[in-house]
Amino acid sequence: MFPAALTGAAAQVQACLDTVLADFADVPVVHGMRYATSGGKRLRGFLVIESARLHGIPAAQSVFAATAIESMHAYSLVHDDLPCMDDDDLRRGQPTVHVKWNNATAVLVGDALQTLAFDVLARADCAPDPAVRVALMASLARASGAQGMVLGQAQDIAAETAALPLTLDQITGLQRNKTGALISWSAEAGAVLGGADVTPLRHYARALGLAFQIADDILDVEGDAAKAGKRLQKDADAGKATFVSLLGLDGAKAKARDLVSEAEAALAPYGAAAECLRQAARFVIARET
Ligand code: IPE
Ligand code: IPE
Ligand code: MG
Ligand code: MG
Ligand code: MG
Repeated sequence: MFPAALTGAAAQVQACLDTVLADFADVPVVHGMRYATSGGKRLRGFLVIESARLHGIPAAQSVFAATAIESMHAYSLVHDDLPCMDDDDLRRGQPTVHVKWNNATAVLVGDALQTLAFDVLARADCAPDPAVRVALMASLARASGAQGMVLGQAQDIAAETAALPLTLDQITGLQRNKTGALISWSAEAGAVLGGADVTPLRHYARALGLAFQIADDILDVEGDAAKAGKRLQKDADAGKATFVSLLGLDGAKAKARDLVSEAEAALAPYGAAAECLRQAARFVIARET
């Protein structure tokens, strides 16, 4: 159920991206945008489409919000990989944007993908009610900016040179911002589109987002780089503050399992209709990519 839904969401997001970018100029920055938004698991796009389905919104509509978040996420990866950030040369099994083009192009590709996300959310196709579109744009701005993802990235970079190791609370806060904010936006988007209460999905996504980043940190230690499509075993040398650095591998795995149970429990109000999201939670810590 979940694997097919994830594959389906990925294909729908790709088709929407192709349409949205179809009449953009034939220049390197646009080539870089297409390049940076191809591939990936599309988990965030899936979360939008699946949470929307739970609220009776068809994928033909929710794919716009799914495309917006995948564009925002791709921007975050392009900038995350820059030499002045994590300095990575491989992403989704391909050379990173600054390696394939150059740093200036990668900065601009990220900038343009970020604004593309708002462009797509502003379209009437995204939601017929303008108030819903504004709500999605405002919440995405908060989730991705200096109260969300950007703050988390700043905390992540600052932790590399911190005099003292971060506490569990500090690492939890960092990861909630860095990764959790965009994942939460994705899962809550379906309820926003449906005009419903976001609370159950908010609780689900808070646990899921944390479990997701813990799994990423575990993959950095013991993952298979060929499957992951990115360089691994870098976090410890870079001095990254992660659950693995604080709790060790076993501690981090136990924490991730607890979080998945928490995420599943949060879906109780939806009953059997949320089975696909439950499977997604289990996938997040079992994944190899
Ligand atoms: C990688 O995200 C960056 C993190 C937030 C840990 P994903 O693992 O979702 O990357 P893609 O989109 O599948 O490539
Ligand atoms: C990246 O986290 C988070 C964002 C891009 C916001 P990581 O730096 O751990 O992601 P990877 O390991 O490079 O994919
Ligand atoms: Mg990083
Ligand atoms: Mg990185
Ligand atoms: Mg990582």
